Amino acid sequence: EVFDTFRNEPDTDFDLKANKAWAEAIIEKWSKKPLEIIPLQIGDEQIVTEKRIKYEDRCQDGYIPYEMSTADAAQMQRMLDMSEKSSWRDTAIEERIEILHKAGNLMADNRGDLIGVMAAVTSKTLTEGDVEVSEAIDFCRFYPLTMRDLLKEKGVKITPKGSILVISPWNFPLAIPVGGVVAALAGGNSVILKPATVSAPVMWEACKLLWEAGVPRDALQIVITNGREPLNLLTKSPIIKHIILTGGTDTAQRIAVGNPRVPLSAETGGKNAIIITSKGDRDKAIMNAVASAFGNAGQKCSACSLLLVEKSVFDDPSFRSKMVDCASSYHTGSPWDMTNTVGPMITNDNDKLINAILNKEEGTEWLIPPVFLDQKKYILRPTILWGAKPHNYTFHTELFAPFLTVGSVDSLEQAIEFVNNLDYGLTSGLQSLDEAEIALWKETLEAGNLYINRGITGAIVNRQPFGGMKLSAFGGGIKAGGINYVSCFTNVANNGELA
Ligand code: ALA
Repeated sequence: EVFDTFRNEPDTDFDLKANKAWAEAIIEKWSKKPLEIIPLQIGDEQIVTEKRIKYEDRCQDGYIPYEMSTADAAQMQRMLDMSEKSSWRDTAIEERIEILHKAGNLMADNRGDLIGVMAAVTSKTLTEGDVEVSEAIDFCRFYPLTMRDLLKEKGVKITPKGSILVISPWNFPLAIPVGGVVAALAGGNSVILKPATVSAPVMWEACKLLWEAGVPRDALQIVITNGREPLNLLTKSPIIKHIILTGGTDTAQRIAVGNPRVPLSAETGGKNAIIITSKGDRDKAIMNAVASAFGNAGQKCSACSLLLVEKSVFDDPSFRSKMVDCASSYHTGSPWDMTNTVGPMITNDNDKLINAILNKEEGTEWLIPPVFLDQKKYILRPTILWGAKPHNYTFHTELFAPFLTVGSVDSLEQAIEFVNNLDYGLTSGLQSLDEAEIALWKETLEAGNLYINRGITGAIVNRQPFGGMKLSAFGGGIKAGGINYVSCFTNVANNGELA
């Protein structure tokens, strides 16, 4: 089925009885999947390499769902050469739409398995994984349609750039790489995908669906490597004409400095704040802040990690106790238990988190102290640090963990000043029912995605184009899930005809 106009794919309602049984079947299958060795795929050739990455479940000792083959320099060069020669650039837009929409449909048909592989490899809870599958499907349907609209523009000639390198993160191991891949393919480019190593099997499963839908194997190739050196071979190759990166600010800076020749579009970190004023609905504000802080164990670039509360609310003991109640109601533990809302973190050696926990600063207190619920320290109970000031470490540092810092502010104006003084500018929220406050905040707050009286994560394709400003973005105001995204990965020239 090809869609002529775009509609967002709905998420699963896990409260329905039939869907509960479906979720249990996912758990049954994916918490005990037999070991699978993923080969290196070069064209039609599959090579099981000696150097492989092992994937071990954080919640079940000894359960290894995958091993994945890594590529060496010579193999990567073959992949690059193949990518350069791909004839995908000659496909008509209608054919691209048909193939990419088919890929979206296959993802919808395989929703349960995609949720399962994310849980097995990255410990993502089933409900968080479900939302991500919807977003990936949306990208498959949305981007080729926006490309068709772009091609209708008068007076311009739009051509693919060539081979595009997509470097993607582990925290949205499906939606973000699918978005980059599909945007590049919709523009007629061929793609080399370098997913984060720790989550790569998720995209192996997704690539199989994209290939099955008709994307040629030379137009979409997936590769992981051992270490940074081989990666440089990709980022510095003259064959690569654009890099799409979602990842750390430091990685973006390193790539930009190391490869000034290649355009880089990067979505990086965030230190995202929600402001609660005395004119906000406190109960809803607490629920929105807690959901935005602890969803996906706080490992979202969009997550709320700073809550700024107007003094009269901050000083109210009932506000404090409701914060504790709400955050504590988030059960934390294995994704294989559906009652858990917060799963394990991807790593147990997050330096910034360890620093924040070990070096609590004077003047701050634990509203909910950090408690690890497992011996290996992957599972951290939602943690809240209370009473932080702008100079405090966690006030301005992105921790990427279930850790929320709360501070008191004298006024909305002061809160806006604090937020605008941060280096990042990705998402931001205001909890206030006052029109004048909303207007002031919208006018002056510096962030790419502004949300009023709701959570600040989970941007929806086409409805909330996603991307930041300041240190949260490289390559200029580019919005994933927006109508202009694909055009960033094409060459747009005047066609030589005068109007
Ligand atoms: N696009 C993701 C979100 O909005 C990162 O949460």
